[in-house]
Amino acid sequence: MTVIGVSQFGKDYCTKNATPGKKYYDERIIRKGKDEYRVWDPTKSKLGAAIYKGLRNVPIFKGMKILYLGISTGTTASHISDIIGNDGVIYGVEFSPRSVRDLVPMTKKRKNIVPILGDARTPENWANRIEKVDMIYEDVAQPDQTDILIRNAKIFLKKGGSIMIAVKARSINVAVNPNEIFAQERKKLEKYFTITDAINLNPLEKDHIFFVGKLR
Ligand SMILES: C[S@@+](CC[C@H](N)C(=O)[O-])C[C@H]1O[C@@H](n2cnc3c(N)ncnc32)[C@H](O)[C@@H]1O
Repeated sequence: MTVIGVSQFGKDYCTKNATPGKKYYDERIIRKGKDEYRVWDPTKSKLGAAIYKGLRNVPIFKGMKILYLGISTGTTASHISDIIGNDGVIYGVEFSPRSVRDLVPMTKKRKNIVPILGDARTPENWANRIEKVDMIYEDVAQPDQTDILIRNAKIFLKKGGSIMIAVKARSINVAVNPNEIFAQERKKLEKYFTITDAINLNPLEKDHIFFVGKLR
């Protein structure tokens, strides 16, 4: 079984390239007849790593609206963009001007990605540029990453909406066993969300866990 919108060729998980002839990082391309697929590199994308490690319940569908906190230069977002198609949209928040500068050329080709230079901790500064969303994806590697997600979900997530978060234990506390951190962050999330999957990303991403959940 594969994930909706994701094709499996041998060991590779791929998305159908919405912009044939264009690639966005050093991803491999597979051609099948007239179609072009971009191989999702699990060493460069935590969602890619989670899928390689068995995540199948991925709450992404055609036409969905997504808030992406920590979009960086758009490696993972490029694959999500392939899946959601032209009726969907990814509002990509990133506080590094350099990363946003590198992301912008992709957004000229992929009209379903809207870059927002802003801090995920202060949504009031950019809230007027987005709308309510079906899913929030977060990958910010900050000590307060779970609180940042909860805050944004309270403002932007539609009733019954989904979350995906890559929790990096070492950004929270390097001195504590990662499993203890994962349990502590899960407990915080469970106040608001039903956690449907928890995928430890080792060895693709050391000391990371990937949670998928649904707003209660
Ligand atoms: C691990 S990288 C994200 C990689 C990206 N998710 C991908 O898979 O393509 C984390 C990103 O979060 C950004 N970031 C960290 N804290 C942030 C914050 N408070 N607001 C917005 N962006 C933040 C960093 O600048 C960095 O680009």
